[in-house]
Amino acid sequence: MLSYRHAFHAGNHADVLKHAVQAFILESLCAKDKGYSYIDTHSGAGGYTLSHEWTQKKAEYQGGIARLWNKQEKWPQLSGYFNAIRAINAGDALEHYPGSPLLAAHFQRPQDRLNLMELHHNEVELLRQNLSGDGVAIHHRDGFEGLVGLLPPTPKRGLVLIDPPYELKEDYQRVASTLQKARKRWPIGIYAVWYPLLARAVDRSEGLKQALAQLGFEQVLCAELSVQSQADDFGMHGSGMIVLNPSWKLDEKLAELLPSLSQTLAQDQQAGFTLEWLK
Ligand SMILES: C[S@@+](CC[C@H](N)C(=O)[O-])C[C@H]1O[C@@H](n2cnc3c(N)ncnc32)[C@H](O)[C@@H]1O
Repeated sequence: MLSYRHAFHAGNHADVLKHAVQAFILESLCAKDKGYSYIDTHSGAGGYTLSHEWTQKKAEYQGGIARLWNKQEKWPQLSGYFNAIRAINAGDALEHYPGSPLLAAHFQRPQDRLNLMELHHNEVELLRQNLSGDGVAIHHRDGFEGLVGLLPPTPKRGLVLIDPPYELKEDYQRVASTLQKARKRWPIGIYAVWYPLLARAVDRSEGLKQALAQLGFEQVLCAELSVQSQADDFGMHGSGMIVLNPSWKLDEKLAELLPSLSQTLAQDQQAGFTLEWLK
């Protein structure tokens, strides 16, 4: 039974980190004329209306994208990400927020292919309503199994985003075992994995990092952004992105971005960031 709905969290600090990294990688892929494949294993609804009652419940975007939106000039390197948001809003209003699929669609050129997977039947319906068009395939299926089935993709270069809800503990193990299979079929793909930084009693991020560092990828970059102090028992205080086979200069772009992003998204004095090569 799937209960996670991303509308409750749309545009929060974790989305900002994830989508900024996604935009950096897609921009790098767009630097060459040759087409690329984008595969989203856990797509969600595709895009979100911030006035929706689910999103308003905790209005998490207020601690995320809303803190950046009126200061866009501070982050010229995020112009691609901001443009993708602007493209689904009227002018400078911030009423809609793109999920990873609409962000990918913004960068897509005629020669690029998008494969979007989503298991929740309501979410996949919304995804179909939010996205259509040439070169976009939407699959109502398990993203872990589906990914392995799609590899190697055509075009043969590209990005996979793996963004599970981690409601099930198995998700951590499935990320690692899926990537192990994926590497055998498509060793040159760029793989970006999002994960939460949780309270001490339930945090599994160290285990995930160790597992992904040992898969045999030559380069593994890890960026973490924490917006508040870590609790003992409950809650998410930040998130991370692990990128296997990162795109050219992604480390430098993140090194430039993370200090000011972390300052802007901070909710207390314990906020901070790390950027490290795991391999
Ligand atoms: C964090 S949300 C995705 C958000 C999206 N990637 C974005 O950035 O806008 C995770 C999604 O994964 C879906 N999901 C959960 N388990 C799945 C599975 N095994 N395969 C595919 N989708 C799954 C959930 O229904 C949920 O919509």
